[in-house]
Amino acid sequence: MWRFSSPQIIFGRDSVEHVETFRGRRCLIVTDEVIKDLGYVDSISKYLENHETVAIRADEPCTDDALELAEKMRYIQPEIIIALGGGSVIDAAKAGRILMEVDIPPEEITPFTDLEEYGFKGKTVLVAIPTTSGTGSEVTWAIVLKDEREKRKVIMANVKTMPEIAIIDPFFTYSMPENLVIWSGFDALTHAIEAFLSSFSNPFSDALASNSASMIFSNFIRSHRGEKDARENMHISATMAGMAFSNSQVGIVHALAHATGASLNIPHGLAVSAFLYPVLEFYSERGVKRLNELCLKIGHNVLQEVERLESVFEIRKIIDGSEIKMHQDEIVKKAMEDSCIVTAPFVPAEDDIAEIIERMVERCMQEES
Ligand SMILES: [Fe+2]
Repeated sequence: MWRFSSPQIIFGRDSVEHVETFRGRRCLIVTDEVIKDLGYVDSISKYLENHETVAIRADEPCTDDALELAEKMRYIQPEIIIALGGGSVIDAAKAGRILMEVDIPPEEITPFTDLEEYGFKGKTVLVAIPTTSGTGSEVTWAIVLKDEREKRKVIMANVKTMPEIAIIDPFFTYSMPENLVIWSGFDALTHAIEAFLSSFSNPFSDALASNSASMIFSNFIRSHRGEKDARENMHISATMAGMAFSNSQVGIVHALAHATGASLNIPHGLAVSAFLYPVLEFYSERGVKRLNELCLKIGHNVLQEVERLESVFEIRKIIDGSEIKMHQDEIVKKAMEDSCIVTAPFVPAEDDIAEIIERMVERCMQEES
């Protein structure tokens, strides 16, 4: 038996007006300092009467941040939590919403944890409003937190972490800085491709994943130029890719990105953009049939398209291949322990992961010389 899970999706220009339906209820807006400084909180709070705002630091949240946020939520007792920000803010709010009700170490929350047994009653409604077009956190039931002491990523996964409502309003993406447009776009593209190639893929996730990949190939470069219709399409595509991978999972690119991010503090979007081509090239050589199916379905040579985007956005010039090479053994070990490895089109050996890293490093070095 399979299940497809998704929040209710409110989307399109001015869809943020939907928060007006929460007027009169006790709302907590969770955001970060950057979003607050951009004045975006006002575009939400003007529709509300009874609200407070908590701004977390603008960085990937760690387990302590989530616990601290949960403590504040416990004090405020909101009826509605509105997470306004990128994936980090939304992940922190998702974690906080669970941890405010249950006393359980974040790393012990898995897809098999019955949170109701720990006292979780789902007292609040979580509304996610993404301000970037990439992570898909607004529609997924996974949360990525940093464990700063262990230098690793903690993945909390449970269907109860999923927001009830996602509002996909492109307004918040118009002022995304250039790097964020590129990295978040690659993250969304990787979600779409890995969701389609995943061993857990299914007809529902396939439809969303393939349509999202196709829309991203058609809109990514124009979105980078700042064309509003393309940015709106990227915003919708990113959520569709999130819905796809939330219901089929990701694979080796994400395992490597989590490992590299934890060891070297490389932003997630940059790490996936560096590993996407080498992993796909590896799959192609290993005869992964689903890659051909994706190409046929969307009418694009996926490998060539990814290489074209990688070169347009000069990804290989940004990555420090020598630093990754120095930490190769540690990255291989962490990637092999990552849960995303399990749903790759085939489960790789340590040597396979090492080979992919070497390919990526070599490509970066070629660019330097
Ligand atoms: Fe991702």
